[in-house]
Amino acid sequence: YRSIRVALLGAGSVGSQVARLLLEQGDELANRIGARIELVGIAVRDVDAPRDVALPRELLTTDAESLILGADIVIELMGGLEPARTLILKAVSSGADVVSGNKALLATHGPELFAAAEQVGAQLSYEAAVGGAIPIIRPLRDSLAGDRIDRILGIVNGTTNFILDRMDTTGASLEDALATATELGYAEADPTADIGGYDAAQKAAILASLAFHTSVPVDRVHREGITGVTAAQVESAKRAGYVVKLLAICERLADPETGEEGVSARVYPAMVHRSHPLAAVHGANNAVFVEAAAAGPLMFYGAGAGGVQTASAVLGDLVAIARRHVLGGPGTAESTHAELPVLEIGRITTRY
Ligand code: HSE
Repeated sequence: YRSIRVALLGAGSVGSQVARLLLEQGDELANRIGARIELVGIAVRDVDAPRDVALPRELLTTDAESLILGADIVIELMGGLEPARTLILKAVSSGADVVSGNKALLATHGPELFAAAEQVGAQLSYEAAVGGAIPIIRPLRDSLAGDRIDRILGIVNGTTNFILDRMDTTGASLEDALATATELGYAEADPTADIGGYDAAQKAAILASLAFHTSVPVDRVHREGITGVTAAQVESAKRAGYVVKLLAICERLADPETGEEGVSARVYPAMVHRSHPLAAVHGANNAVFVEAAAAGPLMFYGAGAGGVQTASAVLGDLVAIARRHVLGGPGTAESTHAELPVLEIGRITTRY
């Protein structure tokens, strides 16, 4: 196999899992892609920082700029606006394709980055930016590209869903539910971005832009967090047959004042009827409910966070881009050779 040179920027909870999977599953991925993924280096802020996963010392560098120069594909998982933005622009202008999981960056500077990539024919993929492991970006961009999306209702923040679910199921106060979320490692040491709805607003901006073929910057997303939600409100919603969920709502709408048709993106705690599929999203899970004119309602559900789960989305983008490198076209997911033999087994389990 020829090799495709990949530079990884960032070795936090997602980045270190991406590195581990690339190193451990090299042969399997090579067979699937038709080329070897060669991890040429991992740019980090501090080479000696403690990490979830032990990474080969010789791959670590603090010089991200030099690393991207020799790469065919750059994976950006540093988070934050800078230097991520500048590094992605450099990668694209040096001829690399980019995979990013950086929701803040995409929600703020998406149009600039997409234009830069388009100008040179580079790919910029970001499945990991919304909903962790859940495939939602490519379904919206590709599978539903011929449909007309009317509305998206997303539970896109695991921390707040955990808290609201706990308040709903145990009657706990917001403070107690947050304390449990912190104890169990769901909430960050500083949970402001989650509790305040900032994280969900970034994801709403990304989903709305994609679904409605427009550009919705995060500062145009109406945002309310869950800080005002009380145990009494959750209880009275429950008595009325509803559950309170922090929703990212993206829809085609007529402005109630001017009548003008447009796109609205809003994040706030909303009442969801117990019969709605979103009401069944418990714990720190995420789900995105899409209402499309032809397809009808669709729901995408799963783990919205977590290092290894989100790494799955990153690797999916990487494999898709690598296949294009090999085939020189959009590529194909169908096997051209069998990876595993087919076993002929009858019924072995009747309950799932
Ligand atoms: N803090 C985020 C959440 C992580 O709770 O969903 C995933 O973006």
